[in-house]
Amino acid sequence: MNVLFYRKTIIAATGLFLCIFLIVHLSANAILIFPEEVARGWYNSYSTTLRESPLIKIVAYLLYLSIVLHALYALLITIRNRKAKPQKYVMDQSSENSTWASKNMGILGTLILIFIIIHLANFWARIKLGIGESVGFDAAGNKDVYEVTYSLFHNIYFVLFYVICAIPLAFHLYHGFKSSFKTLGFYHKKGTAIIAKTSLVYAIIMGVGFGLIPIIVYFK
Ligand code: HEM
Repeated sequence: MNVLFYRKTIIAATGLFLCIFLIVHLSANAILIFPEEVARGWYNSYSTTLRESPLIKIVAYLLYLSIVLHALYALLITIRNRKAKPQKYVMDQSSENSTWASKNMGILGTLILIFIIIHLANFWARIKLGIGESVGFDAAGNKDVYEVTYSLFHNIYFVLFYVICAIPLAFHLYHGFKSSFKTLGFYHKKGTAIIAKTSLVYAIIMGVGFGLIPIIVYFK
């Protein structure tokens, strides 16, 4: 099997898996926009269920592996493209359909990776690994993840950081979602057009959703 094809397939498959994770993650975080009386209990019990379920633990390891493989293989492809610069230049010139997002997937992906590292350091490392400031418990005895989120999103710089990062996320998802189907061999005239539209809708929902939640929590 051709090395480039193998790398692109890994990027596409892990990318689609990450897209599914983001749908679940956004749906769960949408709880935060509800009034505190209900949102705290729902969010904390959901978070506890995820942390304690053996099945979700396996999915979580697959998720971490997907992030690493996706970033690593994308980096390898970018390095390879840079080395073959003249060829890339010709490709870019002739590709009428290439969008700004498609030409800047490397830089968009790097920004998202930086976001993920900062995000995990603030939430995941604190909640799951117990690193940093300790996390309290709610009335039901669940870790008060709601409080962690609420206090972080009451820092305007933190909120701005999330809002700004939602922009590269949306552009990256717009190109990534549709092109992963193509890489995995899905070629169909009507189907491809539907996937392109779905990709746009998906990217807008993810960008607006992840950008809006911190703002709503800030004003709560
Ligand atoms: C409104 C914005 C967001 C909020 C409030 C939020 C909240 C959280 C919380 C509370 C956790 C820890 C869950 C736990 O261990 O119980 C978490 C984990 C995580 N988040 Fe986010 N998140 C947001 C956006 C994002 C975005 C945009 C991405 C990716 C681009 C992302 C990727 C992750 C990943 C990979 C994990 C680790 C998942 C796991 O270990 O199960 N999050 N997030």
